[in-house]
Amino acid sequence: MRLRLAGAVLLSAAAYYVYLPLPSGVSEPWKLMLLDALFRSFMQASDVAHALGVCHRVHLLNRVVSWVEVIEARSCPAVHVTDTELGGVPTRVFQPKAGKQLKRGVLYFHGGGWALGSGQAVFPDQYHDALAASRAFLSSPVLERYGIDPERVCVSGDSAGGNLAAAVAQELSSDDSVKVKFKVQALIYPVLQALDFYTSSYQQNHAVPILYRPYMARFWLQYLGADSSLEPLLLANNHSSLDQPAIGANIRSKLNWRALLPAERRKHYRPVVRETGSLGVVGKVPQLVDVRAAPLLADQEVLGRTPKAYVMTCEFDVLRDDGLMYVRRLQDAGVAVTSDHYEDGFHGCMVFAYLPMMSSVGRRSMNNYIDWLDQNL
Ligand SMILES: *[C@@H]1O[C@H](CO)[C@@H](O)[C@H](O)[C@H]1NC(C)=O
Repeated sequence: MRLRLAGAVLLSAAAYYVYLPLPSGVSEPWKLMLLDALFRSFMQASDVAHALGVCHRVHLLNRVVSWVEVIEARSCPAVHVTDTELGGVPTRVFQPKAGKQLKRGVLYFHGGGWALGSGQAVFPDQYHDALAASRAFLSSPVLERYGIDPERVCVSGDSAGGNLAAAVAQELSSDDSVKVKFKVQALIYPVLQALDFYTSSYQQNHAVPILYRPYMARFWLQYLGADSSLEPLLLANNHSSLDQPAIGANIRSKLNWRALLPAERRKHYRPVVRETGSLGVVGKVPQLVDVRAAPLLADQEVLGRTPKAYVMTCEFDVLRDDGLMYVRRLQDAGVAVTSDHYEDGFHGCMVFAYLPMMSSVGRRSMNNYIDWLDQNL
């Protein structure tokens, strides 16, 4: 009896921990809840370790995520898988064993808030790594070694990796010393700006797993090497108040979602713009307005030189509007863009297409991404 009672208490505690009210319309809510409980427990464990001074929260989180997600290179009958380096950056290579002599090539940057799944670094290291790997990938010896057609190369990535892919695409399409150019860029729910944490999607999805609004502010501060105590200030949009001398009308227009988003995405949300905020933040963290960190802030001429684009966005994602604003800005700059929006998608869904989660929207988005590459690369 006592055992049964204890069991019932434990079970309801677990259910309480796992249960979370989710917006209606999100794909397979129970799977998302379980995934979220797992992620939340990682986050909380790392917060505890951080508070106790055991180690920095990101170190622990990185360990756990690497332990869960990083597996050794394993080939299969159709694909040869090896680990190597490109421009000094650890790289995993997937090569089909069959097929034509000259192949199409995709350079893919993984997500994880610029912090998870690899070594500890801060901006601009990750950006420079991505750039170095890209330059190496586009060089003749590497293209020849892997039998890649120089006319058919893509840069791609998800989440923070989408940020790096967008930044690299901007830099290399404007660099005349690079002769081989990316034919296309494919950005999967990319993160593209850190000045407005009250876009309509940040407002709508602030409490939707797995990327809660405060997590994104925290990942940004870590990436930019800024003090984590600035988190409440970022979440209040105090860093982009109208009295910030470093943020002029030109910058603001590039992330003015009231003008850049269609009404069905803006919905009833209103911008949160402070008249006065915390002065000097952008002076202390100038990377906040650095286009290499925040590719949405690029000038139209720069965007106009970037390759044909595919941008995946999810309705239930704080980063939805980062992606949709980029779609609009690329279109305004004359770039052909496919905007692939998932009405039931959540942040990260594509990487959960397979076991154990077998996400339905994950599978659909993965198939469409690959189809797009097949048709456009
Ligand atoms: C934001 O700025 C206002 C005005 O300067 C200030 O009163 C408020 O405390 C700030 N909030 C945060 C979280 O820094």
